[in-house]
Amino acid sequence: MSTPRRSRRSRAGGARSADQSVPGGQGPSAAPHRSAEAAGASRDGASAYATGYHDPVLVRETVELLVTDPAGVYVDGTLGGGGHTAALLDAAPGVTVVGIDRDPEALATARARLADAEAEGRFIPVHATFAEVGAALAAEGIAAGTVAGVLLDLGVSSRQLDAGARGFAYAQDGPLDMRMNPEAGESAAELIARLDAAELADVIYAFGEERRSRPLARAIKNAERMETTADLADAIRQSTPDRDELKTLARVFQALRIAVNDEMRQIEEALPAALRVLAPGGRLAVIAYHSLEDRRAKRFLRHGTFERDPRKDDFGRVLSPLRAVTRKPVIATDEEIAANPRARSARLRVAEKTEE
Ligand SMILES: C[S@@+](CC[C@H](N)C(=O)[O-])C[C@H]1O[C@@H](n2cnc3c(N)ncnc32)[C@H](O)[C@@H]1O
Repeated sequence: MSTPRRSRRSRAGGARSADQSVPGGQGPSAAPHRSAEAAGASRDGASAYATGYHDPVLVRETVELLVTDPAGVYVDGTLGGGGHTAALLDAAPGVTVVGIDRDPEALATARARLADAEAEGRFIPVHATFAEVGAALAAEGIAAGTVAGVLLDLGVSSRQLDAGARGFAYAQDGPLDMRMNPEAGESAAELIARLDAAELADVIYAFGEERRSRPLARAIKNAERMETTADLADAIRQSTPDRDELKTLARVFQALRIAVNDEMRQIEEALPAALRVLAPGGRLAVIAYHSLEDRRAKRFLRHGTFERDPRKDDFGRVLSPLRAVTRKPVIATDEEIAANPRARSARLRVAEKTEE
């Protein structure tokens, strides 16, 4: 795998923004030999890379499966608090990581944590969506087809969920916002106001996999006020049997979050874009937390397409630009789940770009 060309200019100017027009073939055994603890798992199962901002999941497994070139450039498309990026940087002194996040607060947090690596030019923060990875890398002088690995740790961080002011959680009262980038797009309150009840029901059904989407949508649209997470939670509770309350709250909040951030389209644009930036033999790792994400990751990493069936040549042979590294998803150990319950639903899949 060749080392990509990239600029060596000073990183002191701040994270790049996509809006500013900046935007190995080996098996796992080829990963640098490091102990489990060095790779991010402490003895009690908690991540050695955890901070108050976010406790990254499956760190050891991700690093072992993703890092095949100790001098490679890697992309962390979901920088968050910088936990996975810190572990990738620790994997080998020659590793460089481009860390992308659409949330300015995440970027600022990770930059403070990784200030030394940024000053050395080993960490390059970029404010963009991960679907914009191609443009973000080009702006840094990193050519398509040269990257050693791309990581997407999907969804929201613990910090985003826990901060009431971000409006992601039914358990925290706050403005009904839910935007990962509060500087762009419409908030959940604005989305609800714009959609009619049928359109809102479609969102709840498609992205929350909630069968009672129609009565829920009617209750939400008929509510006197829809400005805070408490307003939304009240409307949901009023039209839901007690026994289903928690799972319905979780599904409707998830559905709106996915719609507000256009998350499924982001994934469908990002995975082909990630494939284009990878070098032959480079790896793509996706950590998914629910079936809508995991289904897309599974199909793409297996076949290089989101269709149910793979493309085949005239002889019926499967044509795929990717070769599976993980046949089954990697899941967290009981110890990790005990230390970090969020790890329970995590599914890590990894595939490698084939030579063709
Ligand atoms: C699960 S957290 C990642 C945590 C990170 N791995 C760590 O170690 O702290 C997901 C992060 O990805 C970001 N994100 C989600 N979708 C994104 C997208 N389409 N483009 C860029 N960033 C995105 C979120 O803002 C959030 O900070």
